[in-house]
Formats: sequence, structure tokens, C-alpha cells
Amino acid sequence: MTSDIAVTRPRPTRVGVIGLGYTGLPLALGLANAGHLVTGYDIDETKLDALRGGHSYLADVRDEDLAVTHGSLVVTSDSAALSQVESVIVCVPTPTTEDGAPDLRAFHSVFEVLAARIGPGALVVVQSTVPPGTTARAAALLGERLGLTPGEDFYVANAPERINPANAEGWNLANTPKLVGGINEASALLAQRLLASVCKVVVPVRSLEVAEAAKVFENTFRLVNITLTYELEALCNSIGISVHDVIDAAATKPYGFLAHRPGPGIGGECIPVDPHFLRSVAVEFGVATPLVDEACRRANQRPLHVVDRLAELLSDADKDVSTARVLVVGVAYKPGVSDTRNSPSVEVISALQRRGAKVSYVDPSVAELVVDGERVERVAWDRSSVVEHDCVVLMTPDRQIVERPLWYAAPLVLDTWNLAAPGDGIHHL
Ligand SMILES: NC(=O)c1ccc[n+]([C@@H]2O[C@H](COP(=O)([O-])OP(=O)(O)OC[C@H]3O[C@@H](n4cnc5c(N)ncnc54)[C@H](O)[C@@H]3O)[C@@H](O)[C@H]2O)c1
Repeated sequence: MTSDIAVTRPRPTRVGVIGLGYTGLPLALGLANAGHLVTGYDIDETKLDALRGGHSYLADVRDEDLAVTHGSLVVTSDSAALSQVESVIVCVPTPTTEDGAPDLRAFHSVFEVLAARIGPGALVVVQSTVPPGTTARAAALLGERLGLTPGEDFYVANAPERINPANAEGWNLANTPKLVGGINEASALLAQRLLASVCKVVVPVRSLEVAEAAKVFENTFRLVNITLTYELEALCNSIGISVHDVIDAAATKPYGFLAHRPGPGIGGECIPVDPHFLRSVAVEFGVATPLVDEACRRANQRPLHVVDRLAELLSDADKDVSTARVLVVGVAYKPGVSDTRNSPSVEVISALQRRGAKVSYVDPSVAELVVDGERVERVAWDRSSVVEHDCVVLMTPDRQIVERPLWYAAPLVLDTWNLAAPGDGIHHL
């Protein structure tokens, strides 16, 4: 049951968006511009002050985008404001702990707040990515706290976020199909109607769990396929052909193949995290997931593979990683964003520093970087910075860097993305 539906444009309503980060802020702005009266609730006063001052902290949201043209957006850290809203959309972080377990502390603390603030008739939509089953459990607890029955006295839905920050293909909140599953039909319809005011295509799915599981499966699919290319890369290196040539060739097939690439590792809040949500539920139900387990293990090891390869190349050039000056190019987890969460570059820098290397970085989007409690030196992307280093590691190919390929001045380049044309001193993984 995943046919697209046309939902009539809703009347403007009072909506709370909880968590004004990468996913919540664009949603809050979209809802406000669709005519709703939006309360943006966040616990981070620094972010709220920036928004009140008309400054965006996200690369994808310009300062001028904060000027709402139609409805309204009021931001606050006072949860009392949520007592006034008819619907809330939960967009708080749901990371994993160090050992890969779901860290749902922020999510549960939001439901604590809701237990004190919402009443009969409210709609609660979970947009945060959660392990399948989480929304229903949280709704049941909330119902107990409120003395109300979920689905009857208040409404509950899950509508996962699929945003791909800084994507060049033009996918955004409005044109990315939005999955919506409800705890019952009434909840699903209310959530579909609300979200149809900002998303052109709303895709109803059969339940909360289908929406939750689809989201984590999408990113697990990517993780497994990316790590599969690591294996292909090892094989291609042995044969003496380029893994990228092979993937380019395979990608000419017009059906049944989706190109994934072997980069330096995976980062951000989705691909490294969501497969662990799937695994946590598999453990709960006693289901084995050896393929996903192995993919997670391979992904974790990948930044260390980059460091080992660099050490090997330095050694071939009669240098030692323990005394090398290394310039890491790109530290965000993907080009064009300032987000360094789970970035493989951070792992690479940490491992290099542990081995004694002196590391600097370049990244047009990341003004400051702290790794293992130490501030990493940021340098300009110019020829003199490049030649001051023993080697350059191309990690995150930001457009501004790619447009000025100064790496050719370096004595040794490790290119983890196949950006540089073959030449003296250019090496791949
Ligand atoms: N960033 C992405 O590209 C992306 C894409 C798809 C899905 N998601 C999912 O969306 C959810 C949010 O991710 P994000 O990247 O927007 O996170 P974020 O860290 O950018 O923003 C979350 C915001 O929530 C606020 N917050 C934290 N605890 C809070 C609390 N108890 N009450 C109110 N506000 C609180 C934080 O201050 C922050 O501003 C996560 O589940 C994530 O997995 C993220």
C-alpha cells in the first residue's frame, strides 16, 4: 500500500517543531511558509539566538530564507509554548552510543515534555529516525502518562526524514516523497494532511513500523552496497584495473544497477547510524543479520585503511608517518556541509595523530575542528600550504577545492575519491 495520494491543502494550524537542526529548521520554515503558525522549540539557546538575530547556522538555509513570507515561526526554549499547538513534529537527534546501541535519550526526553504539554486531539509526528517499534512504544507510554488512548484521544504518526544535505540534484523537503505511517487510519490521515502542505508527494504506508523500517533499510542498503565496493576495489587492485572504471561501466546498464563508490568511509547521522537501529531490533527479535553486521565492521575499519595506505605510501617515499606533515583536504562528512559528525576525516586525523603525524586541514565549510580534545590547524587552500606538507589526503571533495586542483603541487597525494587525474605522486586506495 504505497500509492501516492493527493491530499487537499489543509487550513493553517498551530504546529510545534521540536529540534531545529539540519532536519527540523527547514521543516519549520517550510510549514511557516505554507501558512502555518509554527513554534520552533529547541534546548540550544545559541541556535535560538542566531535565529532571532536572522542568522542561519546551516549551509542549506541562507539568512534570507529565515524571513518567513506567509505564516509565522516563533522560536523558543520554553516548552510551555507547546501547550498551544495542535500538532508537534519531533526532529531531535537519535545517534548511537560508542558501541553502536541506539541513543534515544533526546527522543525520550521530548516525550517527557509532551506528557506535560499536550492534550486530547493533539497529533504527534515522529520525524527523527528510530528503530522500528520505537514510535508505538513511546506513544503507549505517553498515553499512560496523559490518561489518554493513542489513536483515539490523540494521534500518532511516523514520517521519516530523507533529506540529503547539499545534494546537487535539487532534492529538497518539497520534492522528496514523504513516507507517512500512522498508529491508526485517523492518525495517518491527519499527518498526511499536515505534511502535504510542505511535501508535494506524501506516500501513505501501512503502519508506524513500516515507515520506521523503510527509513533504516534505505540507509542499510547504502551501507551494504558501499562496503561491497571496498571488496570490489581490493579485487580490482589485484587485477590491475580501476574500480571506478568498473563501476562507471556497470552504471551504463539502464536498469537494475545503482552505482555506489568506495570512498574513505561513511559519515553523517544516517548511514553510519541507521543500520545499527536495524540490528538492535534484529537482536530483540532473535534474527541474525550477518551481512549488515559485516558491513558495519567494514565501514568502521575503512578510515584506518586510509591511514595504513598513507603510511605505506610515505614509507615507499622514504618518509615515516610518525614524523610526516599531512594535509587532510575536506573534513565534513560530505562536500558542501559543515557537519563533521561521524566524519571519516575525523577518524583519519585521530589515527594519524596517534601515530605521531602533524596534521592540518582544509575545508571551506568547516571553520574549526577539534579532534580528541585538540584543535586541528586549519590552513588556506593555496599552493604554499600544499608544498609545506609531505602529503595531501583528498578526503571530502568540496566543489571549491575541486575547482582549484592545487594538489598537483604536493609531493605525494592519496586520492580517496578518484578526483585526480593519474600522474606522478597521485595514488588511490
Ligand atoms: N541530518 C541529516 O541529514 C538527516 C537526514 C535524515 C534523517 N535525519 C534524522 O533526523 C533527526 C534529527 O537529525 P538532525 O541532523 O536534524 O539533528 P541536529 O543535531 O542537526 O538537530 C537536532 C536539534 O534538536 C535539538 N535538541 C536536542 N535535544 C533536544 C530536546 N530534548 N528538546 C528539544 N530540542 C532538542 C538540538 O539542539 C538540535 O538543534 C535524527 O533522528 C537524524 O537521524 C537526519
